[in-house]
Amino acid sequence: MQQNTTSVHGMWSSKLGFILAASGSAVGLGNIWRFPSLVSENGGSAFVLVYLGCILIIGLPIMVAEIMMGRAGRLSPVGTMRELAKNAAGGQFWQWIGWSGTAASVMILGFYSVVAGWTLSYSWQYFMGLFGEGAAIADGGATFNGLLGDWKTLLLWHSVFMGMTMLVVAGGVQSGIERASKILMPLLVLLLLALVGYGMTTAHFGEAVSYLFSADFSKINADSLLEALGQAFFSLSLGLGSLMVYGAYLGNKDSVGFVSGAVAISDTLIALLAGLAIFPLVFAFGLDKTVSGAGLIFAVLPAGFADMTGGNFWGFLFFLLLSVAAWTSAISLLEPSTALLSERTSMGRKGAALTMTVGIWVLGVAVALGLNVWKDFTIVADKNIMDSLDYITANILLPVGGIGVALFAGWAMDKNVVREHLSDMPDWLYGVWKFMAMVVAPALTAWVLYGKLAGGG
Ligand code: PHE
Repeated sequence: MQQNTTSVHGMWSSKLGFILAASGSAVGLGNIWRFPSLVSENGGSAFVLVYLGCILIIGLPIMVAEIMMGRAGRLSPVGTMRELAKNAAGGQFWQWIGWSGTAASVMILGFYSVVAGWTLSYSWQYFMGLFGEGAAIADGGATFNGLLGDWKTLLLWHSVFMGMTMLVVAGGVQSGIERASKILMPLLVLLLLALVGYGMTTAHFGEAVSYLFSADFSKINADSLLEALGQAFFSLSLGLGSLMVYGAYLGNKDSVGFVSGAVAISDTLIALLAGLAIFPLVFAFGLDKTVSGAGLIFAVLPAGFADMTGGNFWGFLFFLLLSVAAWTSAISLLEPSTALLSERTSMGRKGAALTMTVGIWVLGVAVALGLNVWKDFTIVADKNIMDSLDYITANILLPVGGIGVALFAGWAMDKNVVREHLSDMPDWLYGVWKFMAMVVAPALTAWVLYGKLAGGG
């Protein structure tokens, strides 16, 4: 099979460019709010161990497969799958991986952008608080409920966020996505380290460390496994073509195994650091540990910022951190469909980015209205629009996409092309990867998928 050495959409300037952009995709709201809450809901450190196992056994092999496939096809996920399917057992049947991934990326961005808008709104309030007196947000619960009920403000920040995302993607692979990642990722790490540093100055850092890292194996059960694997998928951005399309821009000499390892390690380290930034505050200010997810971040943590000296400053840094993390992830969610549209039409990258942004913006409008005016409108079970999109993507499309990617890479794709793209792996490691991709990752993911659907959660 004829191998393309470059992509029509452009290329990263270096391996580092890929690592920063792909880590930007992986490190998102999932790391900073979902991971720490999951840890506290599922028995602390036991969950961390299970999670690390999921990353290593399932996440990493699928990530290698997805990036490798992207580089072998060098197009949007749909284009890549069409290309690779030509020489694969099963033929064009495999195209569905590209389509379902692209659909998932559009649906996720539809609600991700609204949530990212919350983080922008909070950043703005804390920033303005720097010039005033007293806590910018005195009652987190009231502020959060007020925001959710106020569709105009939700739409304002959702629009700002989609605009920011479009600007970067329209700029192209190197001068848009890579350039933004090179600024935003170091900024993100600095912000996070500053917040962990603040945590160290409270008398409760040790408590947070032992909360996160002391093992209690009795808490490990099938449910925590389901949660851990779902989170591993979402956090590593697997199964929807974001990493596939980023892989399409990776140089032929760069090691897929190395860059995958780098992305998985930075994603995991940042999730753990986020725990070390959040839990010292929870303990130091006696906040309610039982509240999780969005409630912990938007309703509970502000009570800590209201009590601390310089709280508006720290609150601003914290929500800026979330906004930056969300931004780089959103960029990777807009890229698969933008690449597809610019491949298939004559509108060019800018036109494609604009068109997709408008489409996703409209979806986000429905999501935002679904939080208030259309609160009673449900799609899946009794879930509002946002929770339905979250459910369909995280619980169904991502795992199904991941299973497809693993099976395709392991069984159907041209073996010589696969080996060639992973040529720097020694035989034993290649053997391990192959076994994981053929059997272990799809089987475990299928089990989780079944568990989630049967459990209804
Ligand atoms: N990984 C991102 C997070 O943790 C979410 C995401 C999923 C981004 C899939 C891109 C693709 O928040």
